[in-house]
Amino acid sequence: MEKQPKRHSFTGSLGFVLAAAGSAVGLGNIWRFPYLAAKDGGGMFIAVYIVLALTFGFTLLITEVAIGRRTKQSPLTAYGVLSRKWNWLGIVSCLVPAIIMPYYCVIGGWVLKYFTKYLTGGGAAAAGDGYFSSFISGGFQPILVMTVFMLATAFVVYRGVNSGIEKLSKILMPALVALVLVIAGFSLTITHTDGDTTRTGLQGLAVCLIPDFKGMTLGKLVGVVLDAMGQLFYSLSIAMGIMVAYGSYLHDDASIRRSVNRIEIFDTAIAILAGVMIIPAVFAFEGRAGMDASGPELMFVSLPRVFSEMGALGGFVGCIFFAMVLFAALTSAVSIMEAVVSSFMDKFKMSRAKAVGIVFGLSYAAAILVCLGYNALYFEFSFSTVSGGQILDILDFVSNNILMPVVAVATCILIGWIVKPKTVIDEVEKNGEKMGRRGLYIVMIKYIAPALLILLFLKSIGLLG
Ligand code: ALA
Repeated sequence: MEKQPKRHSFTGSLGFVLAAAGSAVGLGNIWRFPYLAAKDGGGMFIAVYIVLALTFGFTLLITEVAIGRRTKQSPLTAYGVLSRKWNWLGIVSCLVPAIIMPYYCVIGGWVLKYFTKYLTGGGAAAAGDGYFSSFISGGFQPILVMTVFMLATAFVVYRGVNSGIEKLSKILMPALVALVLVIAGFSLTITHTDGDTTRTGLQGLAVCLIPDFKGMTLGKLVGVVLDAMGQLFYSLSIAMGIMVAYGSYLHDDASIRRSVNRIEIFDTAIAILAGVMIIPAVFAFEGRAGMDASGPELMFVSLPRVFSEMGALGGFVGCIFFAMVLFAALTSAVSIMEAVVSSFMDKFKMSRAKAVGIVFGLSYAAAILVCLGYNALYFEFSFSTVSGGQILDILDFVSNNILMPVVAVATCILIGWIVKPKTVIDEVEKNGEKMGRRGLYIVMIKYIAPALLILLFLKSIGLLG
């Protein structure tokens, strides 16, 4: 058994908030939120999302941070400290980031590739037909960029809580906000004429922000709520073990309540700004039809096409856009790796260097398989809501649609019914401040959150509409 160094802490609330916001703000905010906002009635989706963030998001986020701080353990061991019979929940919640890590780094590599392409003046080529599919199926190149991205992630995690994670977040998060603001501002000034049709960025903004109740039925509203909840879940890095790990590094005198509020505001503001950045530009150049894309198709196919239509400025806008996405992806990947590394350190009492080495080795082997899923290991696959998917889609489905809802429901049952909400409330109020929304918290954790989560789970495995 190796000597365990003293557990590190974030130097203050700001370090914690920026690191947690860095984890939360990631690919989910940029490639899924704008699409859902455009699809699900603009401002109505945003309103539903904000209400859910203040109730459901607040409940799960505060719970995970409090579990981490109370047990001073990372996810693998934290749940067992609360109740020995719930050790299994620690294993599942450590499995989630372990599964996400390889494919997140593969996508991080794609972002790196596009960033360097735009930086070296190759933006026009990146917008060409078939460029993205021939790049990802290219074998060596995707593995190379994934390697660089994963090495950078592992280096930050190896540097530790203060000199790695906190330092990186303090540099990249303000830079990310500045870049998002520049691109969003630019996007709103766009005017584009296509034949005899002129569309502006401001008209696109209306699509993003003005509530659209056309054709709304109760069934559709439930769909919007479940979309918003699924998005919130991924976006806030809930049920990925991350917030438990980060909470375990939070000082006892720091305010959990205020920190959680700030993380939610930060994450939601960036998601909305991502909408303001992407929807007006896509709308001006491609019209309403252009907004049907999300995920890799939006980021690596539609947006490069929009940048190329911007003419001379497009190369520059593409470059700062992919720099911004790279920052968002890196801070999220670091948090995903940290959740697994800190788990290994706590469970097996090993040094950080050794844990990083092991986690890197395992993730790297899996990430190579993910890359080859578009090449030598390509096969047609269809299961439930995933069809024609590759290894990446399968890992995404298992982690997002199955394991994360299981972790979240089980956490609600453990806290709501077994160890009781007072465990979390006492932890939050330990520094003398009131929790606020206390009654709401109890009702949410015992009844509403598990019920909503079970609905989400049924929907995500294709059993509900
Ligand atoms: N919360 C991170 C994201 O949105 C994982 O990508």
